[in-house]
Amino acid sequence: MKTNRLSESVTQVLNKQLLMEAHAAQIYLSYAIWADSEGYDGISDFLLRHADEERDHMTKVMQYMMLRGGKPKIEAIPAPPEDPTSIYECFHKVLEHEVNNTNGVYNCVNAAFEEKDWATWNFMQWFVKEQVEEETFALDLIDKIEIAGGVEAPKAALYIINQELMSKSGEAPSAEDATADSPV
Ligand SMILES: [Fe+2]
Ligand SMILES: [Fe+2]
Repeated sequence: MKTNRLSESVTQVLNKQLLMEAHAAQIYLSYAIWADSEGYDGISDFLLRHADEERDHMTKVMQYMMLRGGKPKIEAIPAPPEDPTSIYECFHKVLEHEVNNTNGVYNCVNAAFEEKDWATWNFMQWFVKEQVEEETFALDLIDKIEIAGGVEAPKAALYIINQELMSKSGEAPSAEDATADSPV
């Protein structure tokens, strides 16, 4: 699209959000690698799937900008933070990152509101809703670890959390699903 319908300020915050979503994906990737290296394959799998979601969010912002005639800017993604030192810290960091992301989304909504750019305002409402879900999933992780004993959570409890977060598609297939080509 050649004619740009996005103002300078809206372009700036959308570009920032695009980068934030890409950064979030990198953070989840790095945490997934860390969790795997600690032996928590289920938590790693969960974080990996989440990294894909963040990348989809990035693409969503990018495509919207192009649809409105803008030219999104792809910038260098900052390095992810240090590895967490425990699952407890990992889950708390996840919430922290999600709250930061929510603030980025709100900045976009505010800019769209100020410019009376209702198309962008409306587009961003999907992200407002999505962030409620994202924060809920992060709060749920914290509930799980708190019930398990918080920072003192015993290995047995972490094992259960790890199993619970494993991808459903990764679950053992049932005998009913067996076929001649793919026996269980
Ligand atoms: Fe996101
Ligand atoms: Fe997120």
